[in-house]
Amino acid sequence: MNITLRVWRQANAASEGRMVTYQVQDVSEDMSFLEMLDLLNEDLTVKGEEPIAFDHDCREGICGMCGVVINGTAHGRGNSPVATTTCQLHMRSFSDGATIDVEPWRAGSFPVIKDLVVDRTAFDRIIQAGGYVSVNTGSAPDAHANAVGKLKADRAFDAATCIGCGACVAACPNHSGMLFTAAKITHLAMLPQGQPERHLRIKKMLATHDAEGFGGCTNIGECAAVCPKEIPFDTISQLNRDLIASLFKRDGK
Ligand code: SF4
Ligand code: FES
Repeated sequence: MNITLRVWRQANAASEGRMVTYQVQDVSEDMSFLEMLDLLNEDLTVKGEEPIAFDHDCREGICGMCGVVINGTAHGRGNSPVATTTCQLHMRSFSDGATIDVEPWRAGSFPVIKDLVVDRTAFDRIIQAGGYVSVNTGSAPDAHANAVGKLKADRAFDAATCIGCGACVAACPNHSGMLFTAAKITHLAMLPQGQPERHLRIKKMLATHDAEGFGGCTNIGECAAVCPKEIPFDTISQLNRDLIASLFKRDGK
């Protein structure tokens, strides 16, 4: 396959960016999108040009590092029949001769570091604001002694699959981080060890979410549509119910 790529190039957060066009030849349809970028970067390096900066780590869809906007959708979801991360999107999803636009996440809370790399540490600060679990959870036999209902266990597991990629923020017209925050809150709220700080945790995490500049949720649903881990949209409803409950707790717990 031969591909025309139009890639966002930006030296740093302070400089202006622009789309630059590249031709990528001999792309195998079995390559992942990131392997296709590797091919281009090898070519740029040989020519003495600056390679394109992009984030990645696991390349297995589990670390959440590789998010970029492809042809206008986060992780190229619009080109894939299934939910995917960029590293799991394959070039067979595109036609030979296609022109593909590649941009970084566009959100004020995720400033561009370089080219396609953005700073997503605002997510880390939301998680940190949630604090730690104060109860002694013991070891494996104690865990087995505390039965968790199947529905709650499944819901906790589904929420825990959030990889913190930030696609939900990039897709949301409000740049809300509510699906991410709801996933993190729901994960612990379903489990026994999450109960002592359940309501204090939601207040702290939501306050940090707002302080970091993420917008509010207006139930548009683009976040869930592009989420590579298919975090259910109704985790945000659960977050709202927990927030209301927290307002009636005297010490916030
Ligand atoms: S909720 Fe989905 S889209 Fe948002 S950070 Fe988690 S995995 Fe990524
Ligand atoms: S590189 Fe880890 S999810 Fe894509």
